[in-house]
Amino acid sequence: MIKERNEKPEGQAWLSDMVLREARETDAATLRRLKRQVFSETHNLLQSLVDYDYDVEEERHLIRRYRYLDNSCLLLALRGRDAVGFLTLQGSPLARNRHVVQLGIAVQKELWGLGIGRDLMDRGLQWARENPIVRKISLLVYSDNDRAIEMYERYGFQKEGLLRKEVYIQESDTVLDLVAMGLLVEELG
Ligand SMILES: CC(C)(COP(=O)(O)OP(=O)(O)OC[C@H]1O[C@@H](n2cnc3c(N)ncnc32)[C@H](O)[C@@H]1OP(=O)(O)O)[C@@H](O)C(=O)NCCC(=O)NCCS
Repeated sequence: MIKERNEKPEGQAWLSDMVLREARETDAATLRRLKRQVFSETHNLLQSLVDYDYDVEEERHLIRRYRYLDNSCLLLALRGRDAVGFLTLQGSPLARNRHVVQLGIAVQKELWGLGIGRDLMDRGLQWARENPIVRKISLLVYSDNDRAIEMYERYGFQKEGLLRKEVYIQESDTVLDLVAMGLLVEELG
């Protein structure tokens, strides 16, 4: 159950029947809807609507793949049958670094600040801790994404490098750096 963290009455209602679990193939349509929404309402993700042309069947295939791979995980935050947040831990396919997973996370914008991100992180890191293959969680975040960087640092992620001018956001004609962050499973509390 999601912890309640804000004072907004509408937020409390949203949180009362929230569920976190691994994505199932039957979630393909709602996950596709959520992705289309978050890709259009935030520029803080590398993937954007321009790159996202999956239909429901392709999304189902992706979910199946996450479920099949032993070093990958796709978590959903659901209210009823509607996905409102997701977290991906995508394991490397290469033998020499299949112990490394890339973390991605997004929550529907109107629900930011309610604790859904932290609950997805808690569950995702618990999965990583219990997985016998995974030894490191890595991610890339825009250097100006203070909200996400603060959250990652609270979990113990360390900044490991700066990728200069890696992002161009056409909508705002902005060039941004990416921060590489990493957390070793042995560093998890
Ligand atoms: C980053 C994101 C997933 C956080 O989800 P969320 O549900 O809003 O997060 P939470 O409410 O659980 O807050 C998690 C932490 O974020 C930080 N945070 C939340 N609101 C914040 C704010 N207004 N200012 C600064 N930091 C904030 C805090 O560290 C907070 O921890 P706390 O609750 O212990 O204080 C969400 O903002 C999002 O989807 N952003 C767009 C996509 C994105 O940036 N993804 C990361 C790309 S690497």
